[in-house]
Amino acid sequence: MSELNVYRTEDVSLETLTGKTIAILGYGIQGSAQAANFRDGGFKIVVGGRPGPSLERAKSDGFQTFSYSEAAKRAHVVCLLVPDAAHGAVFDQIKSELSGKTLVVAGGLSLFSGTIDPAKDYDVVMVAPSGPGRLVRSSFLSLQGMVAAFAVHKDVSGKAKQTALALCRALGFTQMGVLECRVKDEAACDVFGEQALLCGGMAELVKASYQTLVDRGYSKEMAYLGTLYELRGLVDLYYHYGIDGMYERVSEAARFGGMKSGPRIIDDHVRQNMEKVLDDIESGAFMKQFEEESQSGFAWTKKSIEEQKNADINRMGADIRKRFKFLP
Ligand SMILES: NC(=O)c1ccc[n+]([C@@H]2O[C@H](COP(=O)([O-])OP(=O)(O)OC[C@H]3O[C@@H](n4cnc5c(N)ncnc54)[C@H](OP(=O)(O)O)[C@@H]3O)[C@@H](O)[C@H]2O)c1
Repeated sequence: MSELNVYRTEDVSLETLTGKTIAILGYGIQGSAQAANFRDGGFKIVVGGRPGPSLERAKSDGFQTFSYSEAAKRAHVVCLLVPDAAHGAVFDQIKSELSGKTLVVAGGLSLFSGTIDPAKDYDVVMVAPSGPGRLVRSSFLSLQGMVAAFAVHKDVSGKAKQTALALCRALGFTQMGVLECRVKDEAACDVFGEQALLCGGMAELVKASYQTLVDRGYSKEMAYLGTLYELRGLVDLYYHYGIDGMYERVSEAARFGGMKSGPRIIDDHVRQNMEKVLDDIESGAFMKQFEEESQSGFAWTKKSIEEQKNADINRMGADIRKRFKFLP
């Protein structure tokens, strides 16, 4: 059944990182957490950034700070930890400094879509944590580790895999286990999952379910409780027990009704739409749109978020959270 290898701390040597300086480019969600973990492990860190609050924060956290290109110049291992839409611009500033080094990305999207196209004289690896920066830090401090994926995109030195694994161990991930995959698996599965299900698909399914009830005259509070509010408990069941285990743990009506009606909602037409979404990710069309949106200062995204705030379900959610004293 298993397709990918999992590596744990006992399988990994730190030798390829001995005496190496690591550049953290970008001091945001991942950058600040990864810099702290590497430093606690005794590695020499330089932080690269553009002038502004995040570079000031790195300085006040005790790191030596430089421009992106100067930090890359001073390091042997260069971790590109700016948002994916900024990878191309920052890569252009550092690419002349990478010869003989290792370039590291924390997600595969820019490599997969060709936004960055590394030259042939340095290693390129991906070390992708499966959670946000605060978990990268807290799981390191608690020695629990977290699931991560790594991939070798270019192996010029013959040691790229050892370096990627050593980075996973230095960041604390191997305490739980790291999966070896291809860059394309991580990039496509991550981005498609966000669009088809986790963010895009789920939000639209919730909105449509709520609105179907409200349009038939059911009370908004009860429509909200029956749809969005109930998600939390169900997500826990999916997470802990899988789809089959979830069905074993819900009521008879939920089990029978869910299994009957689920395929009526998510039918072939939805699958065809999913194929189109995946086509756009694989062709690079999504990345092109995303970069254009980033260059516009995320104008469309900001406008859409404002519109979402005014949607009936979101106003009802705010009202319910207030009345029932939910935490934000
Ligand atoms: N967020 C996560 O939990 C997570 C999880 C797994 C993987 N990843 C991956 O980790 C990488 C970093 O993501 P992140 O969420 O940590 O990023 P982030 O917090 O948004 O990165 C912020 C940092 O990037 C700099 N930056 C932003 N836009 C820039 C631009 N146009 N030009 C130059 N510098 C810019 C910021 O500088 P200023 O302060 O000056 O703007 C800041 O130092 C991405 O590849 C992402 O896919 C993230």
